[in-house]
Amino acid sequence: MIRTRIVGTGSYVPEKVLTNQELEKIVDTSDEWITTRTGIKERRITSNGETSSTLATNAAQRALDMAGISPQELDLIVVGTVTPDMFFPSVGCLVQDKLGARKAVAFDVSAGCTGFIYALSVVDSLIKVGNYQKALVIGTENLSKITDYQDRATCVLLGDGSGAVVLVRGEGERGIISTNLYSDGSYANLLYQPGGGSAIPPTPESLAQRLHYLKMDGNRLFKIAVKSLGDTVIEILERNNIKESEIDLLIPHQANLRIIQAIAKRLNLPEEKVFINIQKYGNTSSASIPIALDEAHREGRIREGSLVLFNAFGAGLTWGAVLVRW
Ligand code: ACO
Repeated sequence: MIRTRIVGTGSYVPEKVLTNQELEKIVDTSDEWITTRTGIKERRITSNGETSSTLATNAAQRALDMAGISPQELDLIVVGTVTPDMFFPSVGCLVQDKLGARKAVAFDVSAGCTGFIYALSVVDSLIKVGNYQKALVIGTENLSKITDYQDRATCVLLGDGSGAVVLVRGEGERGIISTNLYSDGSYANLLYQPGGGSAIPPTPESLAQRLHYLKMDGNRLFKIAVKSLGDTVIEILERNNIKESEIDLLIPHQANLRIIQAIAKRLNLPEEKVFINIQKYGNTSSASIPIALDEAHREGRIREGSLVLFNAFGAGLTWGAVLVRW
């Protein structure tokens, strides 16, 4: 059996910490509200010179070091992001150059917070077709640059960071077992960045109207997220004849602690089988799962043979799950 195996994980977050107490001084909010409604205590914010591609390069280098694979060996670099350094060229190409991964094909995937899962699924398919042997998948975000620090409903949620995995074509049971992806563009306006693209190019008026910042209908998203995230997990388990109790670790997208707890309850998963680090980083969109995966892996929460499940939900709307035998 040909499977795409994860042989290295890495993550990198900016040094600068933005706490709930600091946000209390910027918008009308409280540590108590943020903690009870979201589980977030602090998040990381980029400083001058740090971009999605610089964060990604650091995370990627750590994943390559763990894998013992040099950048020159890479065939493929795929990046999930909604905050590229610029519209083009892709973050993938910028990272390829920074790493010196001369022979790698590089591109980005835009799928909101589900970007890492989408990228993983694309690379899994490309590796299984047989054209590529070694790949890097990265989720990286510089969300603070599209966050409106006058909008208390969104600015308390978001943070910056990057996570990466190195994948190789392998034989046997270990590797990506299954992927499950969904999209529903009819909900596009529940979470979007209206300005700055070709529909509303940046003008003094669009900037004054703050259209270049992320807009979110959090309450409606919350309900759709709880249902669709639970459904996709149940579907991927049923399709692979796996019981909920067989999952060793769920690594969910870290958007809201209450969403994670609702899904854990639906799956009957005890606390120790769900990895949570939202308190430290907030929602880092497509970086959230690979950062959590790297932390879980380095903390020894994943061992050879562990059954690991990722699930994510985000702008598009998009959602999905990936099941991995470690
Ligand atoms: N501090 C204090 N009060 C606040 C804040 C804040 N930071 N933000 C909102 N409120 C107020 C609202 O104004 C509202 O007040 P009102 O009742 O007087 O009108 C009240 O709190 C309740 O607001 P809700 O939006 O109903 O609060 P909710 O319990 O839904 O929590 C939250 C909001 C945390 C955003 C939640 O809805 C959520 O997490 N949604 C899902 C987000 C998500 O999953 N997004 C998709 C992925 S994100 C991505 O792709 C980047």
